[in-house]
This record gives sequence, structure tokens and C-alpha cells, in this order.
Amino acid sequence: MQNLITIREISETQLRNYLSLSFQIKKNPEQFSQKLKGKNILLFFVENSTRTKLSFENAVKKLGGNIVSFAGGSSSMSKGESLLDTVQTIQQYGLDALVMRHSSSGTIDWLSKASQLPAINAGDGQHEHPTQALLDVFTLMEHWNISADQPNPLQGKKVMIVGDIFHSRVARSNIHALTKLGAEVTLVAPKTLLPSDLSLFPKVNVLHRWDTEEGKERLAEADAVMMLRLQLERQKSAFFPTAAEYRHFWGLTRERELLLKPSAVILHPGPVNHGVEMDTEVVSSKKSLILKQVENGVWARMAAFVGVLK
Ligand code: NCD
Repeated sequence: MQNLITIREISETQLRNYLSLSFQIKKNPEQFSQKLKGKNILLFFVENSTRTKLSFENAVKKLGGNIVSFAGGSSSMSKGESLLDTVQTIQQYGLDALVMRHSSSGTIDWLSKASQLPAINAGDGQHEHPTQALLDVFTLMEHWNISADQPNPLQGKKVMIVGDIFHSRVARSNIHALTKLGAEVTLVAPKTLLPSDLSLFPKVNVLHRWDTEEGKERLAEADAVMMLRLQLERQKSAFFPTAAEYRHFWGLTRERELLLKPSAVILHPGPVNHGVEMDTEVVSSKKSLILKQVENGVWARMAAFVGVLK
């Protein structure tokens, strides 16, 4: 049985296989239109989602599969039914794979083992969001016209990941994906929004401020800047004084965008807090690949299904 639960635990070759598949599927989706024929895919979302849920739904449809859709809040889980009882109940309708989003890290790993179902992680707590990293890296490679067929395809590329890294499963999956593919990664965040033990990550550079000589130099050299949402729903105490101060020190303002080189690109997984981590003009600037990320989410998630259920 194969799963896609973390990027950390897959090899560089497996990662490039998922990316190659994304390129092939985007080029010729028809060729894959029966891959999930007769298969029942449980989309189990116990935390809110727009892009991830819609793109997984789209991916199942484009692959010819059946969606068994399930939102925790409107089910018997609200009457106290356990996760395992819930999935074992749903399993009686016949399931071939599980896609799950949950607010607790590790839930999908446990549930996939307990239910014996192949699983794809659609975001677990502050842990990982592997398909987001796939679609982000795919979007960058497509934009730069880089193929996934050779090892180290992102060697020489400088990528900044900026903001609420502590609470971000997107950052964790992307740090693993980008470094596995050879990119140089710099994290930009206040100390309070960085994990306390960075030795758990592969080698990354760290900057606490943009407004230093080094900060400005690195911004001017970056090939891509990946902004993160300030995850206020996961913050139980104050991590920074005010939203205005956060924008001042760590936001991608219009002024900072102008320091980027002309070829640099900007990503954000969405949803964006406008005027906090990014100015509205930057969200819709020519450098922004945000809508391309949304579109590519479908191809990358189709690749995840084809890779896991092959
Ligand atoms: C991310 C998530 O849910 O982790 N969004 C997404 O999947 N599009 C990032 C976020 O919510 O900030």
C-alpha cells in the first residue's frame, strides 16, 4: 500500500516522479481519464478548505473516479463518534482511498494504518501539506521551464519562504520539497514564528528581518518568494505586536516587491490576508503566480492519485 503523507519521507526520485506525472497529466489529461474508474475516494475534510477540497474533487472527476464526500461538522462526529468508528462505518460502503484534512498533526497517518486504506494528506495540523508543495514546485518548474527528469532540477534557484513558518504545514512540506530538488531556501520570519528546533529541517538559511543589508541583498537575489498566511486561528497567544507592525517588518509590500529582480516570481497558497502578509497590488502583480497555483492544484492532485493508486 502506498501513501502520500509527507514530503519528508519520500525520496527525491519519488518526488520527481510525482512532478513528471503532473507535467504528463497537464499535457494530456485524456490519457488519464479512466485511471480511477470504479474507485471510491473518500474526501474527509475535518477542517475548512476551499482550494484544496475543490481541486481534489476536480482531480477525482477528471480521473473518472467516484467521490464520497464527508465534512466532519455535519456528521455523527458532532455526536461524539470517534474517527476510527466513522471511517470503519464509511468503509462498509466500499472505499479505495482516503484523502484527509485534519487540525491535528499525525491523524491521517494513524487513520490510514488503522483503516488499511491508501491515503493522501490534504493538510494535517502544523505538520505537512504534501500536495500543496507538489503544486507549488510544479508551478515553479513549469514557469522556469525545468523538467523533472534529471536529479537536482532546482539547483541554483534561490527561494524565500516568508512569514508564519511555525504554524505552517505548507512551509514544512515546501522546505523538504525545495531542498530535495536542490534549491537554496531562506526562511524569513520573526523568532516567535519560527520552529524552536530548526535542526529538524534540512539545511536552510534564516533571516529575522528584511530591512537589513543582508535582507535586502537576499530579496534582490531571490528567484521566488513564497509568502505564507498569518495563521491567526492557530495562534493562542501574541506572536507579534500588531498586524500593522507585522506588515511593516515581514509583509511583501509594494516597496519590497520593487526590490525584486524582474524575473522573480511570487507565490502564496491562499487564502491571503490582504494588507497583512501581502499588499493587494502585489497579489495581482505580474510577478504573482497565485492563480496559476490554484489551476495547477488539480494537475498535481491528479498526479498524487495516479502515483498512490498505481
Ligand atoms: C493552506 C493550508 O490550509 O494549510 N492553504 C491551502 O491549502 N490552500 C495554507 C493556509 O491556510 O494558510
